[in-house]
Amino acid sequence: MVLREPNINKWCYNNAAEYRTIEDDTMTTYKELGLVNSRGLFQKAVKGGYAIPAFNFNNLEQLQAIIGACVETKSPVILQVSSGARKYANSTLLKHLAKGAVDYAKELGFPIPIVLHLDHGDTFELCKSCVESGFSSVMIDGSHHPYDKNVELTKQVVEYAHKYDVTVEGELGVLAGIEDAVSSAVTHYTKPEEVEDFVKKTGVDSLAISIGTSHGANKFKPEQCTRSADGVLLPPPLRFDILEEVEKRIPGFPIVLHGASSVPVELVKIINANGGKMKDAVGIPEDQLRKAAKSAVCKVNIDSDGRIAMTAAVRKTLMENPAEFDPRKYLGPARDQLKELYKHKIVNVLGSNDKA
Ligand code: G3H
Ligand code: 13P
Ligand code: ZN
Repeated sequence: MVLREPNINKWCYNNAAEYRTIEDDTMTTYKELGLVNSRGLFQKAVKGGYAIPAFNFNNLEQLQAIIGACVETKSPVILQVSSGARKYANSTLLKHLAKGAVDYAKELGFPIPIVLHLDHGDTFELCKSCVESGFSSVMIDGSHHPYDKNVELTKQVVEYAHKYDVTVEGELGVLAGIEDAVSSAVTHYTKPEEVEDFVKKTGVDSLAISIGTSHGANKFKPEQCTRSADGVLLPPPLRFDILEEVEKRIPGFPIVLHGASSVPVELVKIINANGGKMKDAVGIPEDQLRKAAKSAVCKVNIDSDGRIAMTAAVRKTLMENPAEFDPRKYLGPARDQLKELYKHKIVNVLGSNDKA
């Protein structure tokens, strides 16, 4: 690797991000795309008692819905991409979609801060590749490894990402549920006694913890739940005692909640009434997420609810219009339903409206 002359400007000289190398010529930095990293957003969110939405996306309609909802509510946003989503959408297209999102928000009349974040990165190489293709934030999820290996891997990613001023999310504790990179049948709650050491040794910018949320639409088995008077499954409450203990040990440090979809009953009913089979789907009650968002939790990950909202609209539209074959005629309503869902999350659950 050949180092170029560092920028002679004194301020830049001290800034590792300015030490560009010959290798960097193939690189797109997130600043070139008009994106921001998560650091400033998290500082404001922790102080302000709200959480930034981290919405997963992999296609145009989802992106339109996210940006439309965030501009209308004046909310900052984290555009989140899993490794599976990156393969699906293509990393070159994603880079241009992210740049397009920045310009689209401006065109809609309100330029919001936008982070492009890798969700559940599982290797150093994947995180590096994302940094090189314009991501402003990456998650290295070493939570399935033994503690020391998690520290080592996370630290390696932080050292690389920070050279480019890209922020890094780590994870301690394991969420139940399935996603394409990692899966677990059982929850292992975060051990509060580990968090201080982990943050200090790795240098991460934020920490995902496990307090009872879970990935996917079937987060809990019916036997783990109770039922409300009208028969709705109610999951075990989140472990706010663990969250409080974590906050005491690393005061003001940005905490992330994964697996935070609420699996809206009315949308599941629409899916099932239109040929779907989503049995015993149950999510995290929104009042608990609202309480979490007022604490040090400053990033809340929502993917499944978006999938459910789109699917409900697509199924209903096609059921009502069986002769329809123009994708815009069913993806358009899906996009509208998704946008409404996101606005609801921003205003009524996360409190990030008017914080852009
Ligand atoms: O937590 C994971 C996200 O829901 C991403 O899911 O890996 O199926 O894209 P995916
Ligand atoms: P949900 O499956 O609850 O939407 O969680 C998404 C998530 O955690 C993405 O990382
Ligand atoms: Zn997750």
